[in-house]
Amino acid sequence: MELAYFNGWVGSLEEARVSVNDRGYNFGDGVYEVVRAYNGVMFALEEHLARLALSAAAVEIDLPWAPARLKNIIVETLGESGIKDALIYIQVTRGTAPRGHVPEEEMRPNLLVTVRNMPDIPPSLYSEGVKAITMPEFRWQMCSVKSISLQASVLAKRRAERAGAAEAFFVLPDGTVTEGASSNIFIVGDGALITHPADNRVLAGVIRHFVLKVAGTLGVKAMEEPFNISDLMKAEEVFITGTVAEIVPVVNVDGKIIGGGRPGPLTARIHKGFASLHK
Ligand code: PDD
Repeated sequence: MELAYFNGWVGSLEEARVSVNDRGYNFGDGVYEVVRAYNGVMFALEEHLARLALSAAAVEIDLPWAPARLKNIIVETLGESGIKDALIYIQVTRGTAPRGHVPEEEMRPNLLVTVRNMPDIPPSLYSEGVKAITMPEFRWQMCSVKSISLQASVLAKRRAERAGAAEAFFVLPDGTVTEGASSNIFIVGDGALITHPADNRVLAGVIRHFVLKVAGTLGVKAMEEPFNISDLMKAEEVFITGTVAEIVPVVNVDGKIIGGGRPGPLTARIHKGFASLHK
């Protein structure tokens, strides 16, 4: 059964309640993680929790739970749900207090964990690939923080959907392509992988990390370097990475065909290598 944990309370998602004074609700003042479970086992939970701690520290939210306690809460909630193939959402907001920009000093953060059934992913996503659009970067300068303030991403995703695309790629004024609204981007040039460095412009994606590792294992050259829109357009292959759909080929950007319009062989090789990590 799909389940919610909120500050010790456990029950259905429909019954879970949060105060209108939650700072997440009023200010988007919180951080989050999305973790995928395969056959009852969460993939890379340690990495997700490490990133949650970095996000919280970056926005000056003191996590009151010892790492082992936090892990336990999440593992127990997943276990209690009985769901094997799950998406786990973990959200920490700064706390609950009457609305005011400056937070009170001694606030107790609110912890929400939800466990849902993993949505079906159509196989055509991988066999056919997806389209993407580009748009000027209009988010903030702390994209390495997995903040729940996602309004820019929501607008970008909607713009993509209206253009018949699955993802929006952000482009800096100098033409550098950073990441997708909810994914990291890899391009293939001369048989090597290139992805934007893990700086303040992108989220250091967990799947991104494992793709770089898999590339090393397979003897595929991989570089964390900025690339621009013309590198993207003439790439041999392009793919996006993220927890939910793992690795998805991109075959069209702004209406221009990438790599012959079909998912590329290196993308498939990397995805196969990645899939072996959670089998
Ligand atoms: N999004 N970049 C952004 C902006 C993201 O929102 C995400 C993930 C990623 C990929 O990160 P990871 O490989 O750790 O999932 C990159 C999540 C899944 C979401 O918002 O639902």
